Amino acid sequence: MTQQSLAEVPEYNDKSLRDFGDSIAPVLLISSNDKLLNVGMKTFGSHYKVMAIGRLNSFNYSSLDMPLKAIVLDDTVSQNDTIKILHALGNNAYNKNLPIIGLTSAINSDLAAILGDWDNAEIISRPFSRKKLVNGLSSLLNKKVRDRWTKIDAVNKMAMEGCFTLFNSIPDTIANGGNVIFSDIKENTNPIIESIQMGVSRELLDSLVGFDGYTFSHCLKLSVLLTKFGDNIGIKGDDLKILAAGGIVHDLGKLEIPFDVLNKPGKLDAEEWAIMKSHVTKTSHILRTRSDVPEDIMVIAEKHHEKLDGTGYPNGLKGIQINDLARIAAIIDIFSALTDDRPYKNAMSIEKTFKIMRSMTGHIDQHFLSLFIESTLDNMSVEMH
Ligand SMILES: [Fe+2]
Ligand SMILES: [Fe+2]
Repeated sequence: MTQQSLAEVPEYNDKSLRDFGDSIAPVLLISSNDKLLNVGMKTFGSHYKVMAIGRLNSFNYSSLDMPLKAIVLDDTVSQNDTIKILHALGNNAYNKNLPIIGLTSAINSDLAAILGDWDNAEIISRPFSRKKLVNGLSSLLNKKVRDRWTKIDAVNKMAMEGCFTLFNSIPDTIANGGNVIFSDIKENTNPIIESIQMGVSRELLDSLVGFDGYTFSHCLKLSVLLTKFGDNIGIKGDDLKILAAGGIVHDLGKLEIPFDVLNKPGKLDAEEWAIMKSHVTKTSHILRTRSDVPEDIMVIAEKHHEKLDGTGYPNGLKGIQINDLARIAAIIDIFSALTDDRPYKNAMSIEKTFKIMRSMTGHIDQHFLSLFIESTLDNMSVEMH
């Protein structure tokens, strides 16, 4: 029998695959360069479902009729084939404004000229870093959301842009043998604290609505809620910065979990569930070997899935083995998971979420839950998604 925690899959409903629209639609990666296909699969694979196409001579253009999230292609694709692809997409209602990334050796290449006529395209030139590729695709996919960011309070804009850049640069930093420096994280999360202290953090959370990129938006949401809760119960100064930074990095290991497991629109089997749970040890490994973050951040990262009755993971800690910080992180992580829209479930209302959390007496600290409910209801009179 498979096991899943309420936090991960609270309600499975039987929507058909197509109903999920572009949340699980694939990114088509087209190139006859095997090396680039491998890099692309690895780079985009933790954020999106990716289908690699290496040989266009056997490609069935009618497959461009299915809902797609984006196309990434390079200049090994002939001009003729690129035009055929654009033509097929243009004739399809679902894909006619599809984001397209063209990877080229030079900005003024033939590919750039052809894609110049496509409304939603961007050219990225060599050398390709992971950050450059992910940022390029993410800005196309999040165009509307990021347009909204231009109109929000300056402090919230700084929080969004800073945390997004920081979050996306971490995998590159690690791949290049570098370290994730705590002072960098602190600096980028300072606007979150300011936003909370200025009383405008509700706008910060609203700015995440519709953002394409689950791990980032979940981590930022956790960071804001954790810091807000800390501020509410009187935590100050550097301790507040620990909460803000802890939220941002608490699920970094999810970037190493395959997209199909992280976004499966259904129940995970035992093997997939084991992979999903491994995000905690992956986060722990990244932070313990490649970062100077303080021990309290490690508590948030390593213990936010532990439960008071010992049924949590990764270590099945029980009762007093779970300190206050870990208890608070667990409450807010469950709240965030339940109120998130995911391919396997719709976002739950705040009211229903609190009702369910109230019933989780063996799992979460009910005293801290009461304080969290109080502070959340104080701050959010309207529904949050
Ligand atoms: Fe987690
Ligand atoms: Fe989480």
